[in-house]
Amino acid sequence: MQEYNLQTHSYQETEEFGKKFASLVQAGDVILLNGDLGVGKTTFTRGLARGLGIAKNVKSPTFTLIREYQDGNLPLYHMDAYRLENNPDEDLGFDEYFHGNGVTVVEWPQFIKDEVPDDHISVNVKRDGEDDRKITVKLHGDKYESRNFGEIL
Ligand SMILES: Nc1ncnc2c1ncn2[C@@H]1O[C@H](COP(=O)(O)OP(=O)(O)O)[C@@H](O)[C@H]1O
Ligand SMILES: [Mg+2]
Repeated sequence: MQEYNLQTHSYQETEEFGKKFASLVQAGDVILLNGDLGVGKTTFTRGLARGLGIAKNVKSPTFTLIREYQDGNLPLYHMDAYRLENNPDEDLGFDEYFHGNGVTVVEWPQFIKDEVPDDHISVNVKRDGEDDRKITVKLHGDKYESRNFGEIL
């Protein structure tokens, strides 16, 4: 499994990383975003959306669970499973998104862990002071083997 580490020192840098990340994603990719509340998962996704050419501003899907953005180079499905903490077995049709034509990003994937594909990219974000974040990207599965995230670090 490939693993990449980096640090950011402002929300702008995390957004910029998300934007560069977009240059390496493909239809059908699943990206799991791990990390505490307020660490920068949505901020990363906002950058990713920008990199995909999506003009709409990304808002947290905490209450809607899923937001779809169709105006970029690839559809973006942005999920937030936080509200499912107490009902992890609820079937909300996530599977169709995972196998759809877009890129799926999941915040709080631990709450739907039985539904997420084994092959995925995980992005772990950890707070390291007020504005510093440690980010770890791990590529799980053959599908992602040849993706060189090193080139955007
Ligand atoms: N290096 C950084 N990367 C990302 N966000 C940062 C960073 N430094 C400060 N922040 C702030 O942390 C908060 C992250 O919020 P958000 O992206 O909504 O988190 P999450 O989706 O993980 O709950 C924002 O207020 C952002 O401005
Ligand atoms: Mg969020």
